[in-house]
Amino acid sequence: MTPMKFKFFVQSALALSVLFSQPACTPSDLSKENMIPLPVSIVSAGGSFNLTDQTNIFVQGESAEMKQIGQYLADKLNPSTGLTIKVKTTTDTPAPGNIFLSISGKDTELGDEGYQLTISDKSVHLEANKPAGLFHGIQTIRQILPAKVEMKTAQKGPWKLDNGVIRDFPEYGYRGSMLDVARHFFGIDDVKNFIEQLAYYKMNVLHLHLSDDQGWRIEIKSWPNLTAHGGKTEVGGGEGGYYTQEQYKEIVKYAQDRYITIIPEIDMPGHTNAALASVAMLNCDGKPKELYTGTEVGFSTLCTSKETTYQFIDDVIRELAAITPGEYLHIGGDESHATKIEDYIPFMNRVQDMVVAHGKKVLAWDEIALATVKPNTVVQYWAKAENAIKGVAQGAKVLMSPAKNAYLDMQYDSTSTYGLHWAAYIEVDKGYNWDPANLVPEIKKENIVGIEAPLWSETVGARQEAEYLIFPRLLGYAEIGWTPAKLRSWPAYRVRLANHGERMKAMNINFYPSKMVRWETNDVK
Ligand code: ACM
Repeated sequence: MTPMKFKFFVQSALALSVLFSQPACTPSDLSKENMIPLPVSIVSAGGSFNLTDQTNIFVQGESAEMKQIGQYLADKLNPSTGLTIKVKTTTDTPAPGNIFLSISGKDTELGDEGYQLTISDKSVHLEANKPAGLFHGIQTIRQILPAKVEMKTAQKGPWKLDNGVIRDFPEYGYRGSMLDVARHFFGIDDVKNFIEQLAYYKMNVLHLHLSDDQGWRIEIKSWPNLTAHGGKTEVGGGEGGYYTQEQYKEIVKYAQDRYITIIPEIDMPGHTNAALASVAMLNCDGKPKELYTGTEVGFSTLCTSKETTYQFIDDVIRELAAITPGEYLHIGGDESHATKIEDYIPFMNRVQDMVVAHGKKVLAWDEIALATVKPNTVVQYWAKAENAIKGVAQGAKVLMSPAKNAYLDMQYDSTSTYGLHWAAYIEVDKGYNWDPANLVPEIKKENIVGIEAPLWSETVGARQEAEYLIFPRLLGYAEIGWTPAKLRSWPAYRVRLANHGERMKAMNINFYPSKMVRWETNDVK
């Protein structure tokens, strides 16, 4: 080799070695992390914080709630990292190398659910005005770490968090989903699992559809036959089931610990065949109906002219209100085709008053706007914009669940295994690409409490089946509820969603692998 050639060879070798000695990881850039929902503001600083066997979680003060939040994070990190991160209390800023959770109470922009997360080489500091903000911030910390942090068994590190500052708070106060446990019953482990999934995406409401034609799913002590008989079956004739009040309280507590409110629904005056089959006097002719395992709607009604019907409803509302700490009870009101409108209106008016008398506010499907919408009643828009508009005209706030955009039981396309398509096919892009504040011109942002994506369960009875319809669309609804519309875009979301494929796999979620998304990952830290 001539000296010239040798020099060229050395230079080339050097260049190649530089090229190949790049670590197989992306540079630390917090803004490139794949967080869902997208935070309001991310400022990257370069560099990263590493979780090590010296890292602990320090919480400010001695509050049991703060310790519980710290422990929640430790319990998420320890199994996969193999570390033994402990929760400690402090009155001071902890030493370098640790995670610090503190309440400041002074940062008004963050509100009750927002947080600020500051990550440097030396520390991770999560601050919020309220514990709920810390809890949401913890989900962000989890999502900045590699996807395998969500696994239940020890994985190889490193466990890096990119440096920078995230300031984040929700667009809407109500960000929820609904689970129909009446058409098919889901046991408490499935419900808890769903609550964990909602928490991961910063949702804060789970609406439980507890009664319908096919089943009554909540123990009412003054009317035990509702569950003894009315809880015995489901769509297709399966064995059904119900929650005892103790089990319901367990669900409520599990949700509360994750800053999620349970809103129970007793659907009436229609969608009541299970009650009509269990309590004879609820029928105008005093004769009990047969249990029903089909999927028709609109054929049942409580006897609205009987005084005993209202005594029954008062018992149900009283017992349910007593075990529900959240401020809302949902009274249904949808598809009451077997109730004359002149009976429907006074019925809905009276039942609203009964809910208020038991110290709760009313949530109801949009048909309620055909009646008088009482103060504080929230109208859940699902079918008819004109109903929701009528509600707004009466001064009500609206919860946005338009079936064409937000129903989780709608099929993705004509080849979908599960789901229905009476409202629409909702591919993942269609589920994401809409703005609650722009959908109906007469319904303005200030009229809207938030968004809820309901899962009706006519076609799904097992967790994996439900997950196939829920995921990945739920992530899009979570982002619509949290992230300001001006920061949302399908092309950018699609990339973040692709990266959540690994996370959903790590969490054992049976998601629909939509062709709209390139399920590849750049999460190679
Ligand atoms: C509904 O989908 N019947 C509210």
